[in-house]
Amino acid sequence: MTTSLTVQLLCLILAAFFCDLPATHGALHVIQSDVVMQDQDGHWSLELRCGNFAFLDYPAFDMEWQVPSERTVIESRYKNGHFTLRLSAPVEGGNYTCRIPTNSCDAHCLQENGDLRQASLHVDDVEARLMLLEAQQAALEQDHDVIKDEHTQLRESNASLTTYVLDLEKRTKATLVSLSSRVSVIEPVIVLNNLTGHHIAFHATHLKNDTTPHSGHITMKLSNVLTNQGGCYNTSTGFFMTPFPGTYFFAATTGSYDPNRNADFALIVEGIIIAYSTTRNPGNVEGQVATAHGIVHLKHSQKVFIRAMSQNVDFFSEATSFSGFLLYPDPPNSTAIFPWPG
Ligand SMILES: *[C@@H]1O[C@H](CO)[C@@H](O)[C@H](O)[C@H]1NC(C)=O
Ligand SMILES: *[C@@H]1O[C@H](CO)[C@@H](O)[C@H](O)[C@H]1NC(C)=O
Ligand SMILES: *[C@@H]1O[C@H](CO)[C@@H](O)[C@H](O)[C@H]1NC(C)=O
Ligand SMILES: *[C@@H]1O[C@H](CO)[C@@H](O)[C@H](O)[C@H]1NC(C)=O
Ligand SMILES: *[C@@H]1O[C@H](CO)[C@@H](O)[C@H](O)[C@H]1NC(C)=O
Ligand SMILES: *[C@@H]1O[C@H](CO)[C@@H](O)[C@H](O)[C@H]1NC(C)=O
Repeated sequence: MTTSLTVQLLCLILAAFFCDLPATHGALHVIQSDVVMQDQDGHWSLELRCGNFAFLDYPAFDMEWQVPSERTVIESRYKNGHFTLRLSAPVEGGNYTCRIPTNSCDAHCLQENGDLRQASLHVDDVEARLMLLEAQQAALEQDHDVIKDEHTQLRESNASLTTYVLDLEKRTKATLVSLSSRVSVIEPVIVLNNLTGHHIAFHATHLKNDTTPHSGHITMKLSNVLTNQGGCYNTSTGFFMTPFPGTYFFAATTGSYDPNRNADFALIVEGIIIAYSTTRNPGNVEGQVATAHGIVHLKHSQKVFIRAMSQNVDFFSEATSFSGFLLYPDPPNSTAIFPWPG
């Protein structure tokens, strides 16, 4: 109690000398700021300002505010000579009073010219709420404009991205088509260059007993197959069948035991004679032989064989042979059979 009284006394003494210090105009005023503010958390508020004070630094007291609901709010917010009170929605309408606490030294100064340590302002709640709403709406409109701009930009970038993706898709498809067409060109070349698949060669000797021709125009069938790479010579038919288009070489050798018989024979492709040969035996020499041979360009699956052309001749079985081989295959193309038989 005594300390409190001492403080009060000190204050009175100080007030006598420095009373022009705390308030610039000798009296307090409350004004309502005409701007609405938004804090960092997005809350909107109106500001009541109580002043003007001349303190450069923060005053030695906190401001007491009496709000319409009769509550007392202690506020320490101070800026540019004013204590401020923030009113946020819903704003309470009525009488707001700011008051310098009675135990403050400064209160004594202001008491000198009547009760100047407090000031009031009537806040119209409808007007205040409208101000807040208008400010919020203005901010929303601004946000809306920004969002609209961003939306336009996004739509434009989406459109250009869509175009880009479509173009990319088109180009990828074109590349794939061109690649697959190149592959279809390259694949047969790989097969062509794979000589493993193109070993076509055969050699057969000896006539089959049952087919040894005694009458003419009979296909000679050889029984003793020594080589048959590619398996194109068939002993039961006597045919060599081409596995793919290309250029082939063939040779046939045979003759007759009987010196009085001319052994005529031919190399035939699909009914067409490609080489003809015969033994002409003027003397009395047994077992004369002759050879017929040829190089032909053949298609796929064509038959090549030896045909006996003379009648009633016993052909010389041991001296009979039939050979052939592929010189080189045709270059593959889009209409060639693929894959080629091995
Ligand atoms: C507002 O309240 C203060 C303090 O209670 C009082 O002095 C003042 O007369 C009131 N003003 C109005 C307009 O009601
Ligand atoms: C982006 O563009 C595509 C193609 O025009 C459309 O289908 C899609 O809806 C758009 N997306 C947006 C978010 O606008
Ligand atoms: C080469 O041809 C042989 C016989 O047709 C086949 O087995 C082999 O896979 C081929 N190699 C390549 C690399 O195509
Ligand atoms: C084929 O004929 C020869 C000579 O005439 C004979 O020795 C051989 O036994 C015959 N072979 C067959 C399977 O008839
Ligand atoms: C040989 O030809 C006969 C008669 O056409 C046929 O039945 C047989 O399958 C052929 N053999 C081969 C290995 O192609
Ligand atoms: C392609 O091959 C086929 C069959 O071998 C042949 O008939 C045709 O003429 C060839 N085409 C070209 C352009 O070489």
